[in-house]
Formats: sequence, C-alpha cells, structure tokens
Amino acid sequence: MWSCTSSSPTRARSTTLSSSGVTRQRSRGSETEHMTTPRSVRVVTPSTEYDVRIGPGLLDTIYEAVIRSAPKARRVHAIVDSGVPTELVDRALEGIRAADLSVTRSEITPTERVKITTTWHEQIAQAAAARLDRSDVILAIGGGIVGDIAGFVGASYRRGLHVIQCPTTLLAMVDASVGGKTGVNLETESGLLKNAIGAFHQPVEVVADIETLKSLTPRIFRAGLAECIKHSMLSGDFGDADLGSWMRDHSNEILAQEAGALAELVSRNVAVKAAVVATDEKENSSGDMGRALLNLGHTFAHAIETLPGVRVHMGDENSPIMHGEAVSLGLVAAASMSEDLGKTSGLIEPLKTWLTDLGLPTRCKGLSDVDSILERMVHDKKASGGTIRFVIPTSEGSCRVIESPGDAPILKALEAIQV
Ligand SMILES: NC(=O)c1ccc[n+]([C@@H]2O[C@H](COP(=O)([O-])OP(=O)(O)OC[C@H]3O[C@@H](n4cnc5c(N)ncnc54)[C@H](O)[C@@H]3O)[C@@H](O)[C@H]2O)c1
Repeated sequence: MWSCTSSSPTRARSTTLSSSGVTRQRSRGSETEHMTTPRSVRVVTPSTEYDVRIGPGLLDTIYEAVIRSAPKARRVHAIVDSGVPTELVDRALEGIRAADLSVTRSEITPTERVKITTTWHEQIAQAAAARLDRSDVILAIGGGIVGDIAGFVGASYRRGLHVIQCPTTLLAMVDASVGGKTGVNLETESGLLKNAIGAFHQPVEVVADIETLKSLTPRIFRAGLAECIKHSMLSGDFGDADLGSWMRDHSNEILAQEAGALAELVSRNVAVKAAVVATDEKENSSGDMGRALLNLGHTFAHAIETLPGVRVHMGDENSPIMHGEAVSLGLVAAASMSEDLGKTSGLIEPLKTWLTDLGLPTRCKGLSDVDSILERMVHDKKASGGTIRFVIPTSEGSCRVIESPGDAPILKALEAIQV
C-alpha cells in the first residue's frame, strides 16, 4: 500500500523474535483453548529479563507473580488507578493476603497534571509508611499514568524495589508497562514537560489481564490502538512485518474486544516493543535501529498534549486530549513530514483512513501557537544538543530518526493535522 521513493540507508539485519532475545510462547490446541490460555513474551535486556504474561483472569492470580518474581518479599504496596473497578482490585489483593503477604494500598486518579513530583512524593511517603524494604514489591494496577508513577516510586525508593506492572488499559499493556521507562512530568511556567523526570527501572514481571479492558470506555480503549499502529509502522525491522496487515484484517474483532484477537494484539505488540528494547535498553543508541524509533509520532504528541486548549472531536469536547490521541495526530504529522522530505509517497491517506476507521483523530483544534509548540519540541527530552529529533516512516514497517529538518517541514506537518 505504501511506496518508498528513497533508498533506505544500510541497516542492521532484521531482528527476529527469537534472535532478538524475545520469545513468544503459545499454547497448541483448540481455538477456544488458545483464547483462554495465558501467553507469555520474554523480555531480555542487558540488565535483566522478565516475562510479560497476557491472558484473561490473570489479576486473580497476581499472588503467583509475587511469589515467582519476588520470592523474598513479605510486603506488597499496591498503587491503584481509581478507574479500575474496585471488585477486581479487591479480589487481586485478597489473593495476595491469602498467600501470607502483608498488603497496603494507595490510590491515584490519573491525569497528566497529577503525574508530577508531588504525587510521586506522596506515594514514596506511603511506601515508607508501609515499611517496604528492598526485597518487597510495588504493585502498579492501572493505566500508563499510574504505571509510570508507580514504576518511578519503585525505581527511587531505597534506590530500587521490585516492581510488578499490572496494566489495565490497552495502551499500558502494549507499551507503557514494558521496557522500564518510569517517571513523571515536570511543571514549568510554560506548562508541563512530559516525562522530564524519571529513571529506567525494569519490572520483575508484567501481568496483562485482558479482562480488565472490559470496563474501559471506547475512547480510552481506542487511544491504545494508536500505539499499536505506531508499532506496526516499525515492526518490519523487529520481526513482525505482518503486524499492520493482521491488525487491518482483524479490526472488527479488535474493536469488539474478542478475547482471542485481544490476546494476539497485545502479545504481538509487546513482542515488537520487547525486540526494540532488547537492542537498546536505555535509549543510548546513536544508530538507526535503537529505542528512539519508538518515539515515532511522539515529538509532535508530547508537544500537542501539553499545550493548553488542544481539543479533538471524540465525543466529549471538554475533555483534554489523551496521550494515545496525541500519538495518532503525531503519526499523521510524521507521515506528512516524510512525504514532504521526499522519503515516501502515498502514505498519509491510507494512514488517516486506518486511524479514522479505528475512531482515532487525525486533526485537532488549538495548534495556532506555533512558537509554543516549537519551544516544547526543543525542550522535549528527545531533543539532543539543541536539535529536534523526529522519527519518520521510510517504508511500510520501517522508520528512521532524522535531526533538525528545519522549520518548514515541521510547520507543514502541523498544518496537516490542524482543523
Ligand atoms: N513508560 C512508557 O514507556 C510509556 C509508553 C507510552 C505511554 N506512557 C505514558 O502512559 C500514559 C497514558 O496511559 P493511558 O493511555 O493508559 O492513560 P491513563 O493512565 O490516563 O488512563 C486512562 C484512563 O483510564 C482509566 N482506567 C485505567 N484502567 C481502567 C479500567 N480497567 N477500566 C476503566 N477505566 C480504567 C484511568 O483511570 C484513566 O482515567 C501517558 O502519561 C504516557 O506518557 C508511558
């Protein structure tokens, strides 16, 4: 569907799931068995390795993850997203208590404005009150915001505790819970700087119970699909060239949240993310194939989502744009930049149609303050040495990092997503 009009630079050998240190284990057997049997993706990095378990009902057996991955733990402190139905959380924590572990709990109602050092500090104080020591566990139950804050508590309290991530949004399952990026936003006079404070701290296990997705609003569920599309735009170089076509072929099952389709969607996306992280755990790579590629669409997204007054037409005019929605806009902007720079052609319209079909925005209001957007991009942590870095698609399933393309392609890309 997409055509590439420029030759790609010489690139590293395509990474396959097995050779990149990532394995996907699947059960054999009937389709029904396949839908309900948990799957597992192993994440292997230079510093550690751990499993991402994916399946229905896993939250009820979270005590097994604690015993397996933190065998010396005596205490578990759960940092819980207030949006997750209480009965699910109560059951999970009861199971841990029944396994003779002491359990404490605190709650966060997540927004980007809450994802700041004050909240991190409050949560650190709760961990101290719970008398956690370094063998104990911080359990994150929630979406990406709670996972990022709880992960940072786990990274920083006593210089690092065991963290178990239980992502409960699609976005957190396919992206935020995997790879060890933790942190909070920095409040500045001109607004929030996204994820400006943080640490790399890998979890000891990730438990993705796909049944928790049932209580998401359609809008929150769909926001996660933007990160899945992002993965499909680079997955050709990381062992899954068919991810995009599989997602397109199964969009009805995905939107209907059929268990088998969800398990496949989450495990394939986690495998792509894990394959990227395996090559460049701490985003140090100056080469073409590192973790920076996961920032596709994000230089735009982080600037857009922290800009006051940006609105998308997703049913609720007054509610702020979600991270996944900003990523959707960022993907269109990155595709536009790629075409403008002559790297690809015929890419934008199919991408916009795909995003629109999945209920994601391709345009928004509130981007008129271009100076403020450019300033946010310069301050974004993806900028390096005063230059702004973008990731742009170069062919289907493949992307590259470019530095300082100049103001004109940036402005044109912003025009492409402006109402
Ligand atoms: N660490 C990383 O590598 C990484 C990667 C991608 C995104 N992120 C971060 O993730 C955040 C976005 O995460 P998100 O999209 O999950 O948004 P979010 O954390 O804001 O959650 C969205 C909403 O869903 C609610 N919710 C969560 N689970 C629920 C459930 N099971 N049922 C009903 N409601 C539920 C929450 O209360 C919230 O209102 C951003 O801050 C972004 O920067 C981090």
